[in-house]
Formats: sequence, C-alpha cells, structure tokens
Amino acid sequence: MAQYSAGEMAVGDCVGGDLKGKDLIMNPNKALWEKGDFTEIAALMRESGEALVASLGIKPPLRALDLGCGDGTTAVPLARLGADVVGIDIAGNLVAAGNQRAAAAGLSQLKFQEGDACDLQGVDSHSFDLTLSVFGAMFAPRPFDVAREMVRVTKPGGRIVMGNWIPNDPTSFVSQLLKISSSFMPPPPEGFVSPMTWGVDTHIIDRFGQAGVSSEKISMVRDTFHFISPDKNPTQVIELFRRFYGPTMNAFEAAEKAGKVEELHNQLLELAHAQNTNAGGGTAIPATFLRVTVCL
Ligand SMILES: C[S@@+](CC[C@H](N)C(=O)[O-])C[C@H]1O[C@@H](n2cnc3c(N)ncnc32)[C@H](O)[C@@H]1O
Repeated sequence: MAQYSAGEMAVGDCVGGDLKGKDLIMNPNKALWEKGDFTEIAALMRESGEALVASLGIKPPLRALDLGCGDGTTAVPLARLGADVVGIDIAGNLVAAGNQRAAAAGLSQLKFQEGDACDLQGVDSHSFDLTLSVFGAMFAPRPFDVAREMVRVTKPGGRIVMGNWIPNDPTSFVSQLLKISSSFMPPPPEGFVSPMTWGVDTHIIDRFGQAGVSSEKISMVRDTFHFISPDKNPTQVIELFRRFYGPTMNAFEAAEKAGKVEELHNQLLELAHAQNTNAGGGTAIPATFLRVTVCL
C-alpha cells in the first residue's frame, strides 16, 4: 500500500491547525471538511459538474449515489436529468447546504444525508445503478474500504465513476494547490495514505481488485475540470481557498506559526495566475483529473 511520500499532498484527513472543543472528539476527516465552507469553492465548479454529468448518458429510471457530494455540484444536475439521487457526505454543513439547494430547485427526488465513504452504514447492498464520486471519496482516509463500499452498494451491471486529482501533474490545478499547501504543514501521521494515490492507475486497480473487480472492468481517461469565475480574478479565487477550503486554511494556520504566510500566499498566487486562461479579468483555470469508470 502506498503511503504518503514527498511530493504528494499530505492534507487528507490531517486536520492540523488549532482544534478546540468538539473538534477534539470529532473524526478529523469530518472536521477538515466542516472547517471551512466548501460551497464557496463549489460555486466555481458548477459548469464542469454539469458537463461531467451530461457526459454520463443518464437514462431514467436510474438510482444514483453521489459520494462525497458536497452541496451537489454533480448531484443536482443528476437529479435534473431525472435520476433518483442520494448524496452522501461526511460534512454536516454541506449536507444541509445540499438539501437547501435541492428544495430551492424543487428536486424532490434528490436527498442529501451524512455518511462516511469508508463505511456506508444503513445503505443497502446493490441499491444504485450509478455510484458517482467526483473529488469526494478520494479524500476518505481508508481507500480499500472506500472501494469495497462503492462496489457493495452498486448493482451488478451498474457503474462506478470517480473523478480523482492526479499527483504531481503540473496541469492538475488542485493537485498543485494541495502540494504547495502540504509543504507548509507538519508531516502526516504514521500510516497516512495520501488521497492523491487515487489518481494513480496501479492503486485504483489494486483497490478495486481487492473489492473483487477485475482490471478489464476498469477504464481510466484523463479529463479536465474548470474553475470558473467571470467576476473574480485569480487573486480573489486564492482568497476564497484561503478563507473557505479546509486544507488551505490549515496550511495558512501552519504557515502563520512558522512565519511563512507570505511565502505560501505568493506561491498560491503564482500558481493561480500562471494557470488562468481568462484574459478578461475573471478566472478560468483548467484542471486535469483522472476519470475512472468501473463497470460491474
Ligand atoms: C473537494 S470536495 C468535493 C465535493 C463535491 N463532490 C464537488 O465536486 O463539489 C470533497 C468532498 O468530499 C467529502 N468527504 C471527505 N471525506 C469523506 C468521507 N470519508 N465520506 C464522505 N464524504 C467525504 C467532503 O466533505 C467534501 O464535500
């Protein structure tokens, strides 16, 4: 099993920062994602979320699980195409935000609930035609359990589709952002498995293999997500990550203690400006990811 290594991000479920009160007894994976407000970042991802769902060839009736769904970047468009959708996420604040979005959109066949991708308690086996996880389940701490659970809850003949950031890929914006962030963090705990290993084909084949899926049933292609804001420039986008994205918030806390805030900030600004393709004052940053399809 690949563990964290230099050059891969170490943020995963390493909360770092100052934990207080309830956080001390909380699952650190949950605390990380409830720390900020991912809806502020998800707002930059809506167009690509819709495009990815449109490419799935959804034909209702279809039961779909969106795992690590956040506030519904992909769950909402899935439901709009007529699927019955359950969104499961470890972060209570994002589940609440998702249910508000579903209600506001009048999508009665879309429900968000709290749950852990490592252990989908209460979710029946073989209950979904499609299990989708876009930059979600990759952040759960026990990848072999995640693969086993995704296979368990998906129907025979059904599909699992994952979107995973690719480690050490210069065109994978979030991978680069996390790599910079983690370089300002203390080393991860013993036994920590980097989420970025979900962007490596051998790990994917190994994990689904242990869940009983042969490699011929797994296909992987590189695809591109876009972080888009017509009215925010890359400096303002980095400010959103600094204020609302748990892993980046933790990196700034660690950098502050080490007197390196400016260094971190400058590195992130350089990344965002270098990758921005919007010449008109807004932001459009492409980000390569690995799209994994498992046909059961
Ligand atoms: C980068 S966000 C992506 C959210 C959403 N899929 C999107 O594209 O907008 C990662 C999501 O995974 C969720 N997550 C992390 N660990 C999880 C776990 N163990 N079980 C379920 N969800 C998890 C986080 O709470 C967060 O909503």
